[in-house]
Amino acid sequence: MRRPAPDCRAAALLVWGCVTGGPPAHAGGPDAAHGIRTTADIIPAPAQLVPGRGAFLVSERTVVWLPRDPGAGESARYFADLVRRTHPGWLTAIAGSPGRTKRPAIVFDLERAPPGASPESYEIRVTPRQVVVSAGDRRGLFYGGVTLWQLCTAGMGAPATGAQSARRITLPALQIPALHIIDAPRFRWRGLMLDSARHFQSPEFVMRYIDWMALHKLNVLGWHLTDDQGWRLEVKKYPRLTEVGAWRVPAGRAAARDIDPATGRPRLYGGYYSQDEVRRIVSFAASRNVTIVPEIEMPGHASAAIVAYPQLGVMSDPPPAVPSDWGVFTNLFNVEESTFAFLEDVLAEVMELFPGQFIHVGGDEAVKDQWQASARVHERMRELGVASEDALQGYFTHRMGEYLRAHGRRLVGWDEILEGGVPPDAAVMSWRGVQGAIAAAAAGHDAVLSPDPTLYLDSRQGRSPSEPPGRGTVETLADVYHFDPLPGPLAGDQAHVLGLQGNLWTEHVRTEERAAYMTWPRAAALAEVGWSPPGRLDWSDFTLRLPAEFRRLKSLGVHYSDDVFAPPRSVGPHDRHMSQDLKTCTGKLVLSLEDDAPIEGARAVFLIDIMNPCWMLPAAELSPTSRLTVAVGQVPFNFQIGKDIEAIKLDPPRTAAGELEVRLDSCDGDPVAVLPLAPAADNDAVTELPPVSVPGAPGAHDLCFRFTQRTLDPTWAIDWVQLSP
Ligand code: ACM
Repeated sequence: MRRPAPDCRAAALLVWGCVTGGPPAHAGGPDAAHGIRTTADIIPAPAQLVPGRGAFLVSERTVVWLPRDPGAGESARYFADLVRRTHPGWLTAIAGSPGRTKRPAIVFDLERAPPGASPESYEIRVTPRQVVVSAGDRRGLFYGGVTLWQLCTAGMGAPATGAQSARRITLPALQIPALHIIDAPRFRWRGLMLDSARHFQSPEFVMRYIDWMALHKLNVLGWHLTDDQGWRLEVKKYPRLTEVGAWRVPAGRAAARDIDPATGRPRLYGGYYSQDEVRRIVSFAASRNVTIVPEIEMPGHASAAIVAYPQLGVMSDPPPAVPSDWGVFTNLFNVEESTFAFLEDVLAEVMELFPGQFIHVGGDEAVKDQWQASARVHERMRELGVASEDALQGYFTHRMGEYLRAHGRRLVGWDEILEGGVPPDAAVMSWRGVQGAIAAAAAGHDAVLSPDPTLYLDSRQGRSPSEPPGRGTVETLADVYHFDPLPGPLAGDQAHVLGLQGNLWTEHVRTEERAAYMTWPRAAALAEVGWSPPGRLDWSDFTLRLPAEFRRLKSLGVHYSDDVFAPPRSVGPHDRHMSQDLKTCTGKLVLSLEDDAPIEGARAVFLIDIMNPCWMLPAAELSPTSRLTVAVGQVPFNFQIGKDIEAIKLDPPRTAAGELEVRLDSCDGDPVAVLPLAPAADNDAVTELPPVSVPGAPGAHDLCFRFTQRTLDPTWAIDWVQLSP
């Protein structure tokens, strides 16, 4: 690596003062001498960027040189491939050369790193004559190539179409501004978690997801491969895990009516990754500097495995089919020696497939009802000398941790593992806020911050009715950007903070397109928090870089959200108010749920508090003869919420199909309008109910909407409400 100024030899320790003599007033602000923003259009913002004079022009025939280590070729080729996605046929000349060349060229060079440098650090020097990307490690060189591609993107338009490339029209040169970048990551774990258990994504999508991560210098993919609703990893020794455990009937009446002609039964949803596919994905990830951390959930979130092999469960009446409910099931693995042997066999195959240091064993939400109720589990606890069910989970975790350690790996688990005690080398993933990371670090364990709700990418990122379904809380791009990865005492005790991770749970993320949308651009914000030095974090500068980011995402075919630039939604008094425009009455467990029908085609999305399905239209204007029209749908109540279910109050119906009752100013008292639900009773999709009149009342009034119904499932929901004079 080319030597930086003498006092900043270790790229990992770079500070602004090294090159510029002090931090700029605005972290990404314009360089006074050259007028270029010091973050250019790079995400994540590089640690240091000093603008130069002029620009290097990349043309179709620009040569890419690899003067020393042929290993530099991978990074150079990846860079050229990226350029070719928008500029087909460009940069085909990639060659080794005996030394530095004087010709205009892009040079990728692996050199010895300064001592103490992060293997992910790199340096780029751009002058009008040459571009030199150098690093001490292939990982750093790879990221140098990524940054260089981002620097090119200011001049990139839409990808060339097949017809254009066939005609070989000449594309204008790409300009890379002259500059000097010295860059290194803030944290070593910059992750995303993809839940492939609740909804399955194709191997091709998983690889595209990894590619998008790499382009933002994200380097860990947590891969959630097993859960109650599906086991997605082929395990040679236990084929029923995927033959049986990978398939379920989706919840709801529409899916129950969707009969598969091949079986005469409701069509099954599912899929799994063969070991060959996993090897392909792991190898692809390695080429993108991404380590996959596979997650095999235990002792809870185990229903699919127990359905496949009932002897693994606690109960004599194990679940008969892979469930399609969301939430927390009570099904836990039992603690027989045979079950530990099964889990070790599974982990042995997992370790063979995934070479990374960490194996995730879940550990979250293992409610102990079944263990508490089982005489056999208590007998085992006595045999094992374990005093409580929490300690039994600790025993479980220790045992798995020892097995992994004996094979040279480390256990990572969700923060609940702290409750039963964890092996000393285990890492903790803090999801119930950041407290788990703080407690883990205090106890000497490494930690990754991935707290709900801020880094839960299945939360909505805006309030528009066109937002896909997900958790009802809104976690905007700005919320993710402003996440503090070193909260409280961690600010003074960073040694155990490995980094951070955004989690894309997919209960409500049914399609790959939506998985992309929920992830981007919030993962770009997360990447910047995880990579850039704190002094370089600047929300307004980040937003200035977003147009280039969006252009890049578009050129890659990523379905991303541009909600950050959406104008505030305004809904007139007589317009349709979609359910996302209404307020929920108390807002305990608000979800943005998709209708279960139609099976094919677009489905409505309802904002609904499943604990209290009740909505308010605030400040409605009621003329003397207001007509009220409401469109309603029904969603399956497929939630395992334990005893909380008892708190849900149902209003008794007056007729068999039930009614939608509308009240003025509060949800108590007599309704001012009642809309019978009979016209919608047998429609799985949305029904516009016949309009009713609402008595006039001067001034603005809140309208409360509540359904009457005898059973929780399905639950009625409002699609839209309209008041007309
Ligand atoms: C989790 O969200 N249960 C880790």
